[in-house]
Amino acid sequence: MAKSKTIFICSACGTNSAKWIGHCPSCGEWNTYQEEQILTSNNKPEDQVWKKLIHSEPSKPVRLDLIKEGVLERIETQDVELNRALGGGLVKGSVILLAGQPGIGKSTLLLQLALLVRLQKVLYVSGEESEEQIKIRAQRLNHYQQNCYLYSEINIDRILQEAAKLKAELLIIDSIQTLIGDNSTSIPGSISQIRDCTHEIIRFAKESSTPVFIIGHITKEGDIAGPKLLEHMVDTVLHFEGDKHYSYRILRTIKNRFGSTDELSLYQMSHSGLVPVANPSELLLSQHDERLSGSAISSTLEGLRPLLVETQALVGSTVYSTPQRVSTGFDNRKLSMLLAVLEKRCGFHFGIQDVFLNIAGGIKINDPALDLAVVASLISSLEDHPLHRQICFAGEVGLSGEIRAVSRIDLRIQEAERQGFKAICISKFNGNITLSKNSKIKIVQLNTVIELYEKVFAKA
Ligand code: TYD
Ligand code: MG
Repeated sequence: MAKSKTIFICSACGTNSAKWIGHCPSCGEWNTYQEEQILTSNNKPEDQVWKKLIHSEPSKPVRLDLIKEGVLERIETQDVELNRALGGGLVKGSVILLAGQPGIGKSTLLLQLALLVRLQKVLYVSGEESEEQIKIRAQRLNHYQQNCYLYSEINIDRILQEAAKLKAELLIIDSIQTLIGDNSTSIPGSISQIRDCTHEIIRFAKESSTPVFIIGHITKEGDIAGPKLLEHMVDTVLHFEGDKHYSYRILRTIKNRFGSTDELSLYQMSHSGLVPVANPSELLLSQHDERLSGSAISSTLEGLRPLLVETQALVGSTVYSTPQRVSTGFDNRKLSMLLAVLEKRCGFHFGIQDVFLNIAGGIKINDPALDLAVVASLISSLEDHPLHRQICFAGEVGLSGEIRAVSRIDLRIQEAERQGFKAICISKFNGNITLSKNSKIKIVQLNTVIELYEKVFAKA
């Protein structure tokens, strides 16, 4: 009879130990060991998984020059944003992990894919919802497809058997944390369970050349729940992010064995599913009013995708003993640093002012080029001096008040011009910029924040 035993598994690398350890000797991470109950019997199921893997594909070493160049077969998904995130379509036999917080729209995105993709048979498996619930969602999405099969099941062996029987050309599994195997030794969602089920899925995908999407949940800290190992095992990792108070959703490519990781796709959640956003800058800037002070537009870059975003600052006399510094969508420490630079290097007095900073649209951008627009919006609010509507910014601000060069300035300038901006302020250190002949945008090259004040604020 099977007995229950407790072991501890490192969530970062999957090493196990009989006792809890604070510092993993294998990967060096701290506090990653988690307790797990496993069933033990003479016929160790964990060994069986490994045995299956070892014996499934007998192959021999091959000399590099004798290997034929393979052509990646890709399936176009009818969703331009998803195609972009995957590096140009779905690669046959690849395993893709889609991770995101609950309620962000993971199930919606993949059901939409299942309904839209032009394949003979698609199997959508859910361990979280019944077939009826998924049908209601599909009706909401308003796409009808004869080729989509729904299956409510959590047993991975049965799922893969059914997928093989059906000859599904695409398999979607919602979610990896709900799965359990026939030879299961621990509960669904545990590290060893996730690891073993993923092995089975990868084996199935490679053997049958079926692309598989796996949905994964995210912990409070923003990591994919389960072993870090999971991310190493799959071919592609996509993160679905967004602020629940806004309808925008960002699909970010974190890892891609078949494409670039600099991709970023945008969607808007509507009452009938997710709609790809082709021109995000237009959408993010449409609510701008030129007469308001404290607003500046930044030409930022997310991956390789230029995005124009609006930074809004509100600076006012404080009524508290300690002035407030609150920022949304921008690092608070970076804001404090920029305020210190403005105070020390340029003589602006923010010491007795409350400062609120907001990146409009609920999009979190991690681009140093945002600094210059933040500084411009802070000065604009402090002086109550609205900036000209058709000017935008792209530059990093250093501790001595210098404006530093940022990457891919050509892409940023092109996007600013495409959105109808007449001038862009950038760093002097970006050097000579060659623009296309038809380009009319004025490039203002700045050395320091003082120069920004003199050139942009004094004149306007
Ligand atoms: P869901 O795909 O269930 O999220 P996840 O699988 O990531 O947990 O989507 C959740 C939210 O999306 C839910 O609050 C309802 C909303 N929604 C829409 O706004 N429009 C729609 O067409 C659909 C299907 C869902
Ligand atoms: Mg879901």
